[in-house]
Amino acid sequence: MNTASLHEKQDVHHFHLDGHEELNSRIRRAYTRLREHPDTLKSHLFHGRYENIYPPRAEFPEIEPLLEWILGNSRDLLGLNGDETGIAFWFNEMQPGDKTTLHTHNDGDELLSGVYYLEVPEASGDIIFHFSGETAPFTPAAGDLFLFSPALPHEVAENRSHAMRLSVAFNIGIRRADDA
Ligand SMILES: [Fe+2]
Repeated sequence: MNTASLHEKQDVHHFHLDGHEELNSRIRRAYTRLREHPDTLKSHLFHGRYENIYPPRAEFPEIEPLLEWILGNSRDLLGLNGDETGIAFWFNEMQPGDKTTLHTHNDGDELLSGVYYLEVPEASGDIIFHFSGETAPFTPAAGDLFLFSPALPHEVAENRSHAMRLSVAFNIGIRRADDA
């Protein structure tokens, strides 16, 4: 499935961050620094891998410009203003041979979900959206952002490259008093 046909799926909105290279490498270096930080949480242990890795936002100023860009696009889609919306994020790190199991982000009061790509080696795994009755695989590139309904099931095919595939997933919601 190509970009044009993905665009026909109105549930998935595609954006691309021009000039993403410098920001992505800064975030990648900070992620490497924070991966074993004592406040970094890991969850969703499937096939011997923690699918979700949560570096502490307070230790991660390098990611703030990306979160702002994601929030801006999300507010435009939702018709909300900046004071209302909050974001929670986690990293998906896939080494060669890893895949990410079918899931949704629909476990709370989220309004919108998505994924942003930091590093996508060739053949490192398509994201596969599951619409009612059909699947839609898509090959992302670094700098791509998808926004979609928290209830939309998706998975990632096996990383058949020889390098790490790295993305940031997130949920957007109405900000609560305890949100960062
Ligand atoms: Fe996801």
